[in-house]
Amino acid sequence: MTPSRPSTPIRPAPGPSAAPAIRVVVLGSTGSIGVNTLAVIDHLNQGGHGRWRVVGLAAGTNAAALATQSRRYPGAATALADGQTDDPTFLGPDAAWQLVQEVDADLVVSAIVGFGGLRPTAAALARGTRVALANKETLVAGGRWVTGLAAAHGAVIDPIDSEHAAIAQCLAAAAGRTDAVARITLTASGGPFLRADANTLDAATPDAALNHPTWDMGPKITVDSATLMNKTLEVIEAHHLFGLPAEQIDVVVHPQSVVHGFVEFCDGSVLAQLGPPDMRGAIQHALTAPALPARAPGAGPRLNLAALGDLSFEPPDEHRFPALALARRVIAADGTAGATLNGANEAAVHAFLKRQLPFTRIVPLVTAALDALPPKPVTDYDDIAAADADARGWVNQQISAPDPAANT
Ligand SMILES: NC(=O)c1ccc[n+]([C@@H]2O[C@H](COP(=O)([O-])OP(=O)(O)OC[C@H]3O[C@@H](n4cnc5c(N)ncnc54)[C@H](OP(=O)(O)O)[C@@H]3O)[C@@H](O)[C@H]2O)c1
Repeated sequence: MTPSRPSTPIRPAPGPSAAPAIRVVVLGSTGSIGVNTLAVIDHLNQGGHGRWRVVGLAAGTNAAALATQSRRYPGAATALADGQTDDPTFLGPDAAWQLVQEVDADLVVSAIVGFGGLRPTAAALARGTRVALANKETLVAGGRWVTGLAAAHGAVIDPIDSEHAAIAQCLAAAAGRTDAVARITLTASGGPFLRADANTLDAATPDAALNHPTWDMGPKITVDSATLMNKTLEVIEAHHLFGLPAEQIDVVVHPQSVVHGFVEFCDGSVLAQLGPPDMRGAIQHALTAPALPARAPGAGPRLNLAALGDLSFEPPDEHRFPALALARRVIAADGTAGATLNGANEAAVHAFLKRQLPFTRIVPLVTAALDALPPKPVTDYDDIAAADADARGWVNQQISAPDPAANT
């Protein structure tokens, strides 16, 4: 497959109205976040809340869905990582990165799943383009290299992850004064195995792990929710997004997934953000926050607290969910530790989904990868990519060894 690359940057034709269009590239447009992002854009356009123009769409392998989206958003450049399709603008493993490099945009929605999202997201930041970030792996693996890139090029990162969108909204009350913040708390649903008998988890199937009680998401993040690795990734993401140390980032289990996050200020006051467990709220916030002077009507359902009745909170059981401790370890280690954690986790989750690894081996394998692969300093993308590849290789080697348990 030969990646195609146009010789001149693609500039969309001006739209019909005099108001400048907000040109949006959606990376991972065929996934759960990508499809919801396009729904929010349609909703905003229909409501007259800005002129949102989709100028780029990137997918992995789902050529049919990408072609349908391409017809729905005429003029948008398309990128496909792998597959057969009618004339995508960019084709091949670097297609999404090329699209970001070549297409002028005001906003890049980063919703590719996994480490593959890092390079195109970094390319957007290096162009000084605002990024609405769903791809938490970008900050987990790329860490300070990514935030440094954003700062150097004046690019803003607005979180789409619902917990981080919640924290960002609560932090607005402190008007940028992080010394006014005592701690932030990310809520965790607890996933499908919160109340499961721990003795049964060895036999947990991918189908059971993918049956999330409150959120409808792609398979990788749903398995991460079941191990609570998703919250580990989110604590690291919050550390880099908000510049807070691990000691000021808490996790609380909240099975209803209605309170998405809260901030305790130094005076003891706590602000929380609530909403239905529907990603369209957080996506719309990330899309519109800087562009609109006030909130636009939402596309999703409304919260009815009286009908909901009780909201409950409990501390996470770190014995049952040992992944959580890895967040503190990775933040303290710095360097390539985040890339190692992320790469090892992606390889282990992939093996679990292929039924090559029991559910209960995922977190021990990731922990063992961190033990086996000490962190190195990061100076550029290649350092991060090398750590990612090493971690995947190490985990895959353990899985293909005759007795993986003996090695970890
Ligand atoms: N889903 C949620 O509610 C949610 C909430 C918070 C954060 N997030 C984060 O958002 C990201 C996406 O999650 P998701 O649930 O939307 O995942 P998903 O449903 O599995 O979708 C993943 C998307 O990435 C595309 N993709 C994969 N590899 C690619 C590549 N090399 N180049 C271009 N596109 C590629 C896929 O294309 P194909 O369709 O062709 O495979 C698909 O569009 C993850 O980082 C996740 O942690 C998700």
